[in-house]
Amino acid sequence: MTNSTISAAPAAIQWIGESDGFLRLIDQTLLPTQCVTIDCRNVEMVWEAIKMLRVRGAPAIGIAAAYGVVLSLHDAGRHHSDSPSAAARTAADYLATSRPTAVNLFWALDRMRYLIAAHPQGQAGLAEKLLAEARAIHEDDRLMCRAIGRNGAELIRDGATIITHCNAGGLATAEYGTALSVLFTCQDQGKQLHVYADETRPLWQGARLTAWELTQRGIPTTVICDSMAAHVMQTRSVDAVIVGADRITARGDVANKIGTYALAVVAKHHGVPFYVAAPSSTFDLSLVDGADIPIEQRDPAEVIAPYGHRIAPSEVEVYNPAFDVTPAELVCGLITERGVISPVNRESIAEHFKQP
Ligand code: MRU
Repeated sequence: MTNSTISAAPAAIQWIGESDGFLRLIDQTLLPTQCVTIDCRNVEMVWEAIKMLRVRGAPAIGIAAAYGVVLSLHDAGRHHSDSPSAAARTAADYLATSRPTAVNLFWALDRMRYLIAAHPQGQAGLAEKLLAEARAIHEDDRLMCRAIGRNGAELIRDGATIITHCNAGGLATAEYGTALSVLFTCQDQGKQLHVYADETRPLWQGARLTAWELTQRGIPTTVICDSMAAHVMQTRSVDAVIVGADRITARGDVANKIGTYALAVVAKHHGVPFYVAAPSSTFDLSLVDGADIPIEQRDPAEVIAPYGHRIAPSEVEVYNPAFDVTPAELVCGLITERGVISPVNRESIAEHFKQP
């Protein structure tokens, strides 16, 4: 790695070509010091890219997986006897095993499965139809993120100081992000902001990715260690905390990057409003209690040997949950593409999604 950062980058997720094309991703594990793209030409490469966080963030992994299903048709019938629809179904099932927490992955794959089910014999044109659906998932997310930005910006005053955690920006979505879309939209509206970006241990999505996105946009940004957020709220004026989400239950419990829950508790203690910005694809209304959200456990090496640099005895036990659950009671508002849900409870969420 070099010490410099990259100042301009291609879109995080791109499909290149037509249905026989491929998926191009920015390898987010290398940012911000290297901006390298990887071309995924088969399903296994997409699975690996999701698992290893080369593409990450709840909406982004759903979009990438949808394109991954399209890739499964390249070899269908050529190298094995599967019909195209069987190959696509198998690919969807396989991609669903990459990461368990973000429901957007399953939401996107269900959309692809629905289309596959409508073509059980793999009728002609299936590849084009699957690509069109993947592109629609991509575009839907872009529009939802823009709407989240508009809805959330109404909550933020000119001159506000905001704390965010992990990366819920353009890299994590089709464009603009969820939590960061609120901030980018404020900036588009001429509001001045100052953002504290939690570094987000163990993989530093905040220091590496959020700080990169914010500074690229010229938004004054201060990176802090996760453990400093309480001190910042105690000693400086903070207007709001805004984070993204990986899964939100019917009662409003929110799974997001590990450390979010602690931030919400501290925000409550200091009377700082805690907002969660997420598209409807992040809601899992089949679950009520956040305790039922599957929490991904990741490689211990991420904690004790980040980037191959060991910082603790190799024989020590490690616990590495990638997400935690913030109870609805700590969430002041849920910002979606439809508006703002506040107060957050089962009734208000049901009402929010009842509208056509
Ligand atoms: O492990 P990651 O980097 O995929 O975790 C990402 C987050 O927790 C984000 O906050 C969440 O997915 C929302 S992205 C708009």
